[in-house]
Amino acid sequence: MNAPQSPLDAAAQAAEAPRNVILTVNGIEVIYNHVILVLKGVSLSVPEGGIVAILGGNGAGKTTTLRAVSNLLKGERGEVTKGSIEFRGERIENLSPADLVKRGVV
Ligand SMILES: Nc1ncnc2c1ncn2[C@@H]1O[C@H](COP(=O)(O)OP(=O)(O)OP(=O)(O)O)[C@@H](O)[C@H]1O
Ligand SMILES: [Mg+2]
Repeated sequence: MNAPQSPLDAAAQAAEAPRNVILTVNGIEVIYNHVILVLKGVSLSVPEGGIVAILGGNGAGKTTTLRAVSNLLKGERGEVTKGSIEFRGERIENLSPADLVKRGVV
């Protein structure tokens, strides 16, 4: 018979359990003003309840990546020209920022 599980064991098990991926960015490319290629082949995934940090020097494209996810590139004359972005299994590249906020993407 198994001994009763301690809260620490349970926490360790929960930390190791595979988590659902909630947000996936698949090989996106972003171009500003139709000519300035800023992101090429950027991919990342965020697990449910997880935290993902984006690191990079000034101008590396961190803010652009987040603008792509929130669909805030249009106002900057930028667009996602390749790749895909999924939130909870749904393609979100064509949703408005307001619709994204309703789904919990900010
Ligand atoms: N609206 C825009 N039009 C044209 N180029 C832009 C625009 N916004 C950003 N860029 C260019 O895109 C590149 C990435 O910029 P971005 O702001 O995404 O970088 P960042 O990693 O957030 O930088 P920082 O650490 O300074 O915040 C830079 O070369 C920047 O000059
Ligand atoms: Mg920035």
